Amino acid sequence: MKEKKFETTAIREQAKRSENSEHSVPIYATSSFLFEDAEDARAQFADEKEGSIYSRYSNPNNDEFIDKLCLLEGLPKGIATSSGMSAMFASIVAFLKQGDHIVASRALFGSTHQIMTKLLPRWGITHTYVDGNEEQDWEAAILPNTKMLFFETPSNPALELLDMEMIGKLGEKHKLIVNVDNCFATPYLQNPADWGAHVVTHSATKFIDGQGRVLGGAVLTTEDLYPDLKYLARHTGPSMSPFHGWLLSKSLETLAVRMDKHSANALHIADRLEGHADINFVRYPFLKSHPQHELAKKQMRKGGGIVTFELSGGIEQGRKFLDNLEMISISANLGDTRTIATHPASTTHSKLSQDERNSVGISDGLVRLSVGLEHEDDILTDVLQAIEKSK
Ligand SMILES: Cc1ncc(COP(=O)(O)O)c(C=O)c1O
Repeated sequence: MKEKKFETTAIREQAKRSENSEHSVPIYATSSFLFEDAEDARAQFADEKEGSIYSRYSNPNNDEFIDKLCLLEGLPKGIATSSGMSAMFASIVAFLKQGDHIVASRALFGSTHQIMTKLLPRWGITHTYVDGNEEQDWEAAILPNTKMLFFETPSNPALELLDMEMIGKLGEKHKLIVNVDNCFATPYLQNPADWGAHVVTHSATKFIDGQGRVLGGAVLTTEDLYPDLKYLARHTGPSMSPFHGWLLSKSLETLAVRMDKHSANALHIADRLEGHADINFVRYPFLKSHPQHELAKKQMRKGGGIVTFELSGGIEQGRKFLDNLEMISISANLGDTRTIATHPASTTHSKLSQDERNSVGISDGLVRLSVGLEHEDDILTDVLQAIEKSK
């Protein structure tokens, strides 16, 4: 049969049916699995035979989630992890050792920035941050001991886009591992592997779950790199719970329809807020005013669910805006069915210094809206009335 389309793969890729002929995959809530006999046990441990040995290694629910995500991202192998951050950490330490160096985009999620600047240096892994998309800046940062290029696009929360083709080609030229955090876009809106990424990492907690229920993550990679990733995961145990694997695999079934609606709602809100007298700027990849709108159209199918805007009254108005919301939730999460407003400067990115925040576009008055799946009119009404009352 011809290769299936995204939506079909997301629904039809399933774990092997059991003897009970279930339609929906059961949850394999078991820590270990039985061997047929001593020889079966030996062969499975020797990697001569496929099978689930122990749920820290693999489990049918997590395998289903990862096999499906691999097909959707266009990479052959991967691991499911307990959170997005365990995925980020594993995706770096599985492949790097003491003395290695990473070139990374400065616009990274707060905890990823902590890994780069505070944790990895403890083990002698250093980094250089690069701003923006100038090829010569990325190239100039590459040292003889550089092993990895790391970035997220769109970035959290400033929605800065990185040119995946340019960085992918640089990785190829210098034989470096290209590692992309694809959390904001999801595999439905863009596939970094199409542009040369060797590792794609996810916080599945966000749009992949899409309903604010569980933490989860994933690291997907090539056949060549997979043994190092599998080794790290087996022996350090960042494993996903089978229940979460089951939920997240079910969530992937509806990812396409949800991302279409998130994107349509977000574009509507961004469009209506642009030009508002109390807003300095609105940022959304599929708004014509986004400085990288052309790049967005080149590498993304749609703009995704996140909109950011800066209230002209700075931090004071930002806080009043949150306090006056009637429906929209104030929370640190994103990618939920419910619209969520966040103030990054005082929450997710509060560990960064003021200078660091400014350098990645997080001003005091910046509000991040994770636009949900409620009716667009109700979302807009709440945003507009909260702006009005915050003046
Ligand atoms: C871009 C990005 N990467 C990674 C993470 C971390 O994911 P988790 O909270 O699942 O550990 C987040 C969380 O907000 C994120 O936005």
